[in-house]
Amino acid sequence: MKSFTRKLMSVIVAASFCFGLASCSKAPAATSASDATTTVAESKASESSASSEAKADVKTVSAGKLIMATNATFPPYEYHEGEKIVGIDAEIAKAIADKLGLELVIEDVAFDSIIAGVQAGKYDIGCAGMTVTEDRLKSVNFSTSYATGIQSIIVKEGSPIKTIDDLLKGNYKVGVQSGTTGDIYMSDSEGGVGENRIDRYNNGNDAVVALKAGKVDAVCIDNEPAKAYVAANSGLVILETPFTEEKYAIAISKDNEALLAAINKALDELTKDGTIAKIIEKYIPTNK
Ligand code: ARG
Repeated sequence: MKSFTRKLMSVIVAASFCFGLASCSKAPAATSASDATTTVAESKASESSASSEAKADVKTVSAGKLIMATNATFPPYEYHEGEKIVGIDAEIAKAIADKLGLELVIEDVAFDSIIAGVQAGKYDIGCAGMTVTEDRLKSVNFSTSYATGIQSIIVKEGSPIKTIDDLLKGNYKVGVQSGTTGDIYMSDSEGGVGENRIDRYNNGNDAVVALKAGKVDAVCIDNEPAKAYVAANSGLVILETPFTEEKYAIAISKDNEALLAAINKALDELTKDGTIAKIIEKYIPTNK
């Protein structure tokens, strides 16, 4: 268990800030990010003119657009509501795009293709509950962090797996979403269960379906999607796992420093005016 924790901690990069959910203001659920942003732009003239400075030298993949790659099977960060992709990341990205005077375009792609797509200049940003890791930082820049996550283990109710140690010591199979930190940690033979006991799925939902069907014994996924999947599927429970905090941030091409600066500036403003806390509170109410 210790080495699992250590392994997790070793890839975590100190991002510049994050915020306690406890301090979030209680926002009416109906407030959309764009509404909130409009109010800010109107009420804080000095700040919005500062944003437009940043806006002037920002080049994007397609002029006037901010193309965001995500993988929309990660509630409450991104998921489908009918045709629409909604969630914390979708709303934060919309608020940023509004500040930069860009139209947000969301593309739903395989999670493990996001970084390569950003690097190749296919997408402006990867915004997908994406954890900042040393390894990913070799390929892309990350914005300041806007949220945190913890790896969780989902098992079936009544499973003999009660702890992480049970999972590591037994000959159990673990389902993960391909290319995620859950995959990286779990497939490591030192801290995780090792390559031979991993089944990789295209998305979190497929991993959960495999767990229900008895194809895997556990699923390793971030805590908020874990809670959402357990709430949506009867007969599943979340194990108490070691504290493994990760920082979520937006991936941006190393070739676009101006976009990184503009996004960090927008995030800073959206944090200070409470917009980000409001968006998070809307999807993860603290009093629930
Ligand atoms: N936080 C994990 C990672 O960065 C999982 C993210 C999965 N996100 C998604 N939208 N499916 O690897």
